[in-house]
Amino acid sequence: MNYVITARFMDDKTIEFDCAEDENILAAALRQNLQLICQCKKAYCGSCKALCSDGDYEFGERINIQVLPSDEEEKGIVVTCDTFPRSDLVLDFSYTSDRLGEATVPEISAKVVGLERLSETVFRLELQAIDAETSIPTMFDFVPGQYVEIGIPGTDQVRAFSLANLPNEQGLMEFLIRLVPGGSFCGYLEREAAVGQIAKVRGPLGEFVCKAGCTKMEEDFRLHETGRVQAFVGGSTGLAPLVCMLRNLASHDYAGECHLFFGMQNRATMFYEKELAELAASMPNLTLHLALMEGSPDWQGAIGHSVGAFEAHFTGVEERPEVYLCGPPPMVAAAVASCARLGIPSDQVHQEEFVASGG
Ligand SMILES: Cc1cc2nc3c(=O)[nH]c(=O)nc-3n(C[C@H](O)[C@H](O)[C@H](O)COP(=O)(O)OP(=O)(O)OC[C@H]3O[C@@H](n4cnc5c(N)ncnc54)[C@H](O)[C@@H]3O)c2cc1C
Ligand code: FES
Repeated sequence: MNYVITARFMDDKTIEFDCAEDENILAAALRQNLQLICQCKKAYCGSCKALCSDGDYEFGERINIQVLPSDEEEKGIVVTCDTFPRSDLVLDFSYTSDRLGEATVPEISAKVVGLERLSETVFRLELQAIDAETSIPTMFDFVPGQYVEIGIPGTDQVRAFSLANLPNEQGLMEFLIRLVPGGSFCGYLEREAAVGQIAKVRGPLGEFVCKAGCTKMEEDFRLHETGRVQAFVGGSTGLAPLVCMLRNLASHDYAGECHLFFGMQNRATMFYEKELAELAASMPNLTLHLALMEGSPDWQGAIGHSVGAFEAHFTGVEERPEVYLCGPPPMVAAAVASCARLGIPSDQVHQEEFVASGG
């Protein structure tokens, strides 16, 4: 059965297209050359949302509370890349029709230039953007906090990874990758990856960016100062976008109070201590709060969870910080609950969950 989808844009332009009941709305639009704005096409980035003002629909299995919080679901917001029509639908998109086509995300070639095991569970992968024809290194620009999709060489599979370093002229990209047992990308890293290999990279993607200093222009940077304490809370490789944001603040001599709460399970899995110490040395306004769930004789930091350290620090403090959360879904959910207990307004809480990006 086919239904008619009426897409309405903010400049009052209306476009109709067909959608079968077993086809997601975004796929149907793209098939009929309507280039709706989208990024991941796998229900985790949120870029393809619309408000359904008329009709019935069903969500697919990928949609979760991260991409579609319950208040948005109640209002009728849908994630078009995992929503299936059950009647004709009217959808309102929150952009003007001249932005159709922004769906096209750049795809580049990149060479593996570094591969290092940082701890029992974490790899550092370094890529360099190159011109596909000449192999000459090219600049790769992005906003700190964003991620890219990296193709697993020799397959048609892609996985999302956040950039840990700042944009640079050489097109170097640093990724911190947690080893997921049995994972395809992790299997590639452990068994096949080698310096010199070429991978496809699609991006930059994502909206998880730091309000303070989210642009590289000095003047805009000042405009983006929020005046609030900045708190960054990370678990595992969720550290990557947070450290990227902090490096950006450091590069702008950001003087506001910043805290990084970061935790791992134990000494064997802990990573990036040297790099974080270097960052803190270059940023006197940054306080590091490192935590391990399991202590060890040579561990000077806190014992427990990074979220616990965050909540303990801000309990009884009047200041309500701007908060950036990143890590595995349970960690992010615990941190969001913690923010609610601390009375931090939800518009000051920004999050990215490292959900599975394959499939
Ligand atoms: C926006 C975004 C940014 C990300 N950035 C990073 C990053 O910087 N560093 C990083 O390490 N990861 C990051 N991830 C997660 C990453 O994209 C992959 O999902 C992860 O590395 C596993 O890929 P894989 O191919 O090894 O496993 P797959 O072959 O995809 O999966 C193997 C098995 O593990 C499960 N699984 C996969 N991923 C996870 C997970 N994250 N948690 C629990 N179970 C999982 C799958 O359901 C499956 O059962 C990000 C995810 C998103 C959505
Ligand atoms: S394109 Fe639909 S959530 Fe990313």
